Amino acid sequence: MFWNEKLHKVIPFYSHYASPKASPFTETYSLKNCFFTSTLNFTIETTRYSVANIMSISSQPIVIIVGTNRPNSMSRKIAEYYQNLLSKLNAPSLILDLVNLPHDFTVSAMYENSGKNEGFNGLRALLEKTDKFVFIVPEYNGSYPGVLKAFIDGLPYPNSFTNKKAALVGLSSNTQGATIAMSHLNDVFSYLGMNTLALRVKLAQIRNHYTEGVITNALYNELLEMQAEQILRF
Ligand SMILES: Cc1cc2nc3c(=O)[nH]c(=O)nc-3n(C[C@H](O)[C@H](O)[C@H](O)COP(=O)(O)O)c2cc1C
Repeated sequence: MFWNEKLHKVIPFYSHYASPKASPFTETYSLKNCFFTSTLNFTIETTRYSVANIMSISSQPIVIIVGTNRPNSMSRKIAEYYQNLLSKLNAPSLILDLVNLPHDFTVSAMYENSGKNEGFNGLRALLEKTDKFVFIVPEYNGSYPGVLKAFIDGLPYPNSFTNKKAALVGLSSNTQGATIAMSHLNDVFSYLGMNTLALRVKLAQIRNHYTEGVITNALYNELLEMQAEQILRF
């Protein structure tokens, strides 16, 4: 017996297509996003769950956040890689790439303008309905990118992340794998009341270990797979 996901309950402001089928399968949802300045299509891969694994896997999509707004970032590529891992585990997910934030959000959506930017409001609504996150965190100047902190500061406190769960993946050019960046971010999440997985994956010197959509380092793959399984059970 298989169960079909009803994604519109989770993200009602998206339009999507879903059709029931008789056997296990992967459906692709084309989602028209209404909260970014430019029109964007998200692909959510979802599957039907067997009774055996419905107990351990949330029916809500896990939101994978690309922690930089740098265009064509390596973080985005790692996010897509992670989405594939989740897909193989029959877990629906979607990618939020900070490159698609409204460009003026620090002016138009924060402080006295909080709630006034429709695009940002849609994003807030999505995050409030999400229970689990994966943060892909590049190391920038020894920490995580400033845009990620501004994004977090623009979200309502304490609803967006409080009592939620997150996995952290760090990447860097140097040999540290964004270890300190993830520690900094973990402190912020701890303050906000979000629980993070103990296993933080550090993808040091990522460009030496990633070629054309493939992570070539066996240990990196093993750790990512392990973490993806853990966030489902977390
Ligand atoms: C503004 C900026 C600062 C950076 N600072 C560091 C750093 O402190 N240490 C490091 O190893 N890499 C640093 N990098 C490189 C990124 O961490 C590296 O390219 C990462 O693997 C992927 O970043 P991306 O998602 O922007 O492509 C920096 C990159 C940028 C754009």
